[in-house]
Amino acid sequence: MNTYKDKYSKDVSSFFRSPVRDIFKKVDLNAIYSFAGGYPSAETFPMEDIRNTMSLVIDKYGGKAFQYGATQGVTELREAVAKRCGVPVERVQITSSSQQGIDVCTRVLVDPGDVILTSSPSYLGALQSFKSYRADVRGVSHCKDLDAFRQAYESEIAKVQAEGKKIKFLYMIPDFQNPSGESLTLEERQMLVALAQKYDFLIVEDSPYRELRYEGDHIPSLYSLDPDRVIYLGSFSKIFAPGFRLGWAIAHPDLLDKIYVCKQSLDLCPPVFDQYVAAEFLESGKLDENLLKTIALYKGKRDLLLSLLEEYMPEGVSWTHPEGGLFLFLTMPEGFDAVAFYDKSLSAGVAYVAGEFFHPDRSGKNTMRMNFSFMTPEKITEGVKLLAELLKDEIL
Ligand SMILES: Cc1ncc(COP(=O)(O)O)c(C=O)c1O
Repeated sequence: MNTYKDKYSKDVSSFFRSPVRDIFKKVDLNAIYSFAGGYPSAETFPMEDIRNTMSLVIDKYGGKAFQYGATQGVTELREAVAKRCGVPVERVQITSSSQQGIDVCTRVLVDPGDVILTSSPSYLGALQSFKSYRADVRGVSHCKDLDAFRQAYESEIAKVQAEGKKIKFLYMIPDFQNPSGESLTLEERQMLVALAQKYDFLIVEDSPYRELRYEGDHIPSLYSLDPDRVIYLGSFSKIFAPGFRLGWAIAHPDLLDKIYVCKQSLDLCPPVFDQYVAAEFLESGKLDENLLKTIALYKGKRDLLLSLLEEYMPEGVSWTHPEGGLFLFLTMPEGFDAVAFYDKSLSAGVAYVAGEFFHPDRSGKNTMRMNFSFMTPEKITEGVKLLAELLKDEIL
C-alpha cells in the first residue's frame, strides 16, 4: 500500500500532537533539568503500603479483582468517592482517569463545529481532546477585575451567538490551574455559573489538583454552586499515583447515564484491580495520610522555586504565585518567543513547556510553564540558576 491518507476519518485531520510528550521522547528527563512535565514526584508513591494493599486485595477479592467489572466502576470505590465528595453514589462514575473524563464529556456533548469555551491558557490534553472531535475552542483570558472578566466572557458569547453557533460547555480548571497555577475566586466561580445559567450551557469542571493546597482556604467547587449544570472531574493521579489511571466524574444521573453508555464502547470498565486498591487506600485512611506528606513535600518545592525566581530571574520576568498544584507560569517581556528559545535552553540542559501551546489561539508567545513537583530541590536550584542565566543573555 502506497499511502494510508485516504483511509483516515475526518476527525484524524484535526488531531494534534502534544509538544510535552514530544519533549519526553527526545530527552531523558533524569539527565536534564526538566521543568517541563506534569509528573508527580515518585517519592510520593507509598510503595510499601501499595504492596501490602495489593496483597490484601488479592486475599480479599480473589479472582473477582481480575475479572471484568461494572462499567460505572466497582461499588466499593464509587461509595468511597461519594463519601469523600459528599454526593450520592448515583452521581459517581469511575473513569480511567480524568483525561478519559474530559474525552468522554466531549464525545457525549459536542458535535463538529460546536463551541467549547475555556480559559486561555488551558490544559493541553483537554485542547487535544476538544480538537479531536472538531470542536470550535474559544479561549478567554483572565482579568483581575470581575466586571472586565465577565465582560470578556459576555463578548465571546455574543460573538458565538452572532455566528449562529452553539456553546456546549465551559471547560474550567478552577483550582491551581494547569498551566498557570492560578485559582478562581469564589466571586469568579459564581459569575461563571451565572453565565452558564443565563446562556444555558453546561460546565465541565476539571480539578485534579484541588486537594493539593499549600496555603489559604478551600474555595467552593463550581459543582457545589450548581450540581445539575456542572460535571465535576476528579483524579487519583496527583493524590495517589497516575499509573493506576483512575479518576471519577460526578454529575446529574441523566448526564452520567450517557457517559456510562459511551464508556461501554470505550473500555467496558475501569481497571478493576486498581479500583479495589484505590478503594482500600481511601477507606483505610492511608490515602489521606500519604496526601499530607505529599502536600508538605510540594509546598517545600513551591516555596523553593518562588524564592529562587525572586533571587535569580532578570528584570522584566514575572510569574504566578500558586497556592497549590504543580505549576507556575512565567511571563517574559513582550517580543520574547519561548518556542524559539526552547532549543537553546534544551541544549544547555533545561526543559520547560512554551506557553503558546496552552493558548487556543496560540497567543502567549512570551510565556512558559514550569513544574515544581518532579525534580529534587537540588535540581530545581541548579535548573533555575541556569535558566535565569540563559534568559539574561536573551532579554537584557
Ligand atoms: C488539568 C488536568 N486535567 C486532566 C489531567 C489528566 O490527568 P489524569 O488523566 O492522569 O487524571 C491533567 C494531567 O496533567 C491535568 O493537568
